[in-house]
Amino acid sequence: MGQVHATGGELVTDYDALCSSLEALLEGEHDPIACYATAAALLYGELHDVNWAGFYLLQDDELVVGPYQGQPACIRIAMGRGVCGAAAKSLQTMLVPDVHEFPGHIACDARSRSELVVPLVADGELLGVLDIDSPSLGRFDECDADGIERVVRVIVRRVLVRRR
Ligand code: SME
Repeated sequence: MGQVHATGGELVTDYDALCSSLEALLEGEHDPIACYATAAALLYGELHDVNWAGFYLLQDDELVVGPYQGQPACIRIAMGRGVCGAAAKSLQTMLVPDVHEFPGHIACDARSRSELVVPLVADGELLGVLDIDSPSLGRFDECDADGIERVVRVIVRRVLVRRR
């Protein structure tokens, strides 16, 4: 599962397989923390060249770290701050090929060089963000952004069952 080699020889992620695995792992489970923790473990294990994968969850207009895999990270991020805060505030996916070029980037792990952050939005309401970091420049492309947005939809669907 996970990776396949594209024509050019580079590793690309099989997001169909990843989403199917996540669906299977989360089947019947609606506890948000259980779903976030399982997704973080799956993403960290299956994505190549990643040094952090996890969630920041919205609490009282602030992002607070949730389940993750990787080095200990900063615990609280204000709305609009860093890549995570920007994704949360704009409700848009942030694809950052070089974190040193991103004004206000928060360096939790000095090895991180590129980053992908996707907001979790349920019924128009922000739940938090999924943050994935890589030690390589330009690790993530539009295919990864699209694939991770699909992963996020799988998670949000599960969490929504509990909220309704
Ligand atoms: N780099 C993020 C902070 C979180 S850590 O990367 C885990 C940011 O700028 O929002």
